[in-house]
Amino acid sequence: MNTEKQTPYNYEKAQQEATEWFNNYYKEASKELSNIAWAKGEVNPFLQEYLDTFSGTPAKAIVIGSGLGDDAFALYIAGFDVTAIDVSEEAIAWAKERFDGAEIDFRVADLFDLPSDLLGSFDFVFEAFTIQSLPLALRDRTITAITSLMKPDAKVLAVCNAKQDHEHFDGPPWPLTFNELRLFTMKECRELEFSIFENKSSLSSLKVRALFQKEA
Ligand SMILES: C[S@@+](CC[C@H](N)C(=O)[O-])C[C@H]1O[C@@H](n2cnc3c(N)ncnc32)[C@H](O)[C@@H]1O
Repeated sequence: MNTEKQTPYNYEKAQQEATEWFNNYYKEASKELSNIAWAKGEVNPFLQEYLDTFSGTPAKAIVIGSGLGDDAFALYIAGFDVTAIDVSEEAIAWAKERFDGAEIDFRVADLFDLPSDLLGSFDFVFEAFTIQSLPLALRDRTITAITSLMKPDAKVLAVCNAKQDHEHFDGPPWPLTFNELRLFTMKECRELEFSIFENKSSLSSLKVRALFQKEA
């Protein structure tokens, strides 16, 4: 019999360590955009494509893990009432500075401890590369947190690097399997789009743009 004592996974510690990592990363970048690996200084092309073909009425949108703010700004230009949250105060301060004058509610907020006024408040959520940047054990919690922001009928557009089931990555980041991204369908959301693209970046050979809608 194996008598070795098992230590339960410490979710809070993992969340805290990830937060500290991002805060330090932004701090060390010293406001130099080229020091941020994921920052392109422009809107995510998958979001822009979505906005270019959007035919509804712009409503309340939130960008989670909003980084330097370009996606929030694109939504604002498209007429949405935009909130953008990031756990890093450095990132939020930097985004505010970059988009000074834009009426965007840039806020320091932790996905794992969301302010109550944000819960169930949004018609549209945009997520790019945040789920994959957090430890694998936090995947379910991260997706649950994202869906908690949505009103009934709201949509979430998610963009991530993806991998086949057999591939292994020593993250961060940890590209998602298709089934991991489809966890949204276990959280009262149905799949509207799941587009797979070949990815030229060295990170993983696939990218996914997926759109889910919360049940009414
Ligand atoms: C890989 S970056 C992507 C940033 C941005 N979405 C983009 O595409 O440029 C992940 C972002 O998620 C933020 N983040 C990490 N953990 C978070 C949490 N618990 N709550 C909110 N934001 C978080 C990080 O600070 C970082 O800005």
